[in-house]
Amino acid sequence: MRAAFINRTGPPEVIVVGDLPDPVPGPREVLVRVRASAVNPIDTSIRSGAVAMPLPTPFVVGCDLAGEVVAVGDGVAALRPGMRVWGSNQGLLGRQGTCAELAAVDERWLYPTPAGISDVDAAAAALVSITAHLGLVREAEVRPGETVFVNGGSGGVGSAVVQIAKALGARVIATAGTPAKRDAVARFGADVVLDYRDRDLADQVRAAAPTGVDVFWETQREPDFDRAVSMLADRGRIVVMAGRDARPPFPVGPFYVKGCRLLGFVMFKADAATQAAAAADINRWLQSGRLRVPVDRLLPLARTAEAHAVQEAATIARSTALAGKLVIEP
Ligand SMILES: NC(=O)c1ccc[n+]([C@@H]2O[C@H](COP(=O)([O-])OP(=O)(O)OC[C@H]3O[C@@H](n4cnc5c(N)ncnc54)[C@H](OP(=O)(O)O)[C@@H]3O)[C@@H](O)[C@H]2O)c1
Repeated sequence: MRAAFINRTGPPEVIVVGDLPDPVPGPREVLVRVRASAVNPIDTSIRSGAVAMPLPTPFVVGCDLAGEVVAVGDGVAALRPGMRVWGSNQGLLGRQGTCAELAAVDERWLYPTPAGISDVDAAAAALVSITAHLGLVREAEVRPGETVFVNGGSGGVGSAVVQIAKALGARVIATAGTPAKRDAVARFGADVVLDYRDRDLADQVRAAAPTGVDVFWETQREPDFDRAVSMLADRGRIVVMAGRDARPPFPVGPFYVKGCRLLGFVMFKADAATQAAAAADINRWLQSGRLRVPVDRLLPLARTAEAHAVQEAATIARSTALAGKLVIEP
């Protein structure tokens, strides 16, 4: 099979596109013909070595996939050849990745792709929607009628948080960097969309939510906790999920006096049953049209290194060049 893989960690150029032996599905594994594989910031961190993980050699990059079952290993009960599936959480914790024509995946990490949803849309939604679900439902326990603020509502995770928060019945205030991206965030369903560069952003949020926001979702790697806590309602929750090296100051007094909580998580540590439960909701929202993660561009497998460079520039250098997911079509 053709695959995008690495033999050592390093810059995007360490990615080789070439032939590898076809994977053989072991017990409880499913062989998937991958039609789409979305790129996520974690893919670039694993490839560069910034996030240390056990890696098979060669290591196929990529976490997300959508495609079609072509064979099943012993003991696979729910899936059979011809079924369309999507999944995430591959290329992590020693598992092989998904930027390849074929991937052998434990059936517990695969979900049926709803009829009418393309492989590109299913792959684009995968990791970011599971992340948004875990953060809003398991961590923040968002309730209908609460106000959720999303700092960076135009990105992969942010666009999913906006749409899933709306699907859960919340009111949503979100930020984005350009007029076109703010229009897009409004189309995702945000009730109020603001420019994250405005110096009086906190005042604008307080004007839109006079008693404060119940949930502050930070997509950025260097949270401004002074500003975040100033926006929170009593019993408010802050969700953080980025910025491994970040060590920002924290306003302890205002935070505890309001009875707030700070919640951090990584999606890949959620077990298969938890992620499958999230995927069931995500499938319902995909099918009903409530959830559609924007796709910036489609790229062939041969351009996986370029996709990593663009994603890295967006996440680390904040290039603002991306308006949605990069999706590889092997
Ligand atoms: N913990 C986990 O499980 C988990 C899961 C997924 C992702 N992550 C992490 O979450 C982060 C975001 O991932 P992603 O896939 O959503 O990235 P992304 O698609 O590149 O989105 C980045 C977002 O940041 C916004 N942004 C840029 N500069 C900003 C600023 N100064 N203030 C506020 N927003 C700003 C962008 O807005 P514009 O485009 O409008 O400029 C965009 O909405 C990454 O660091 C990633 O590693 C963690």
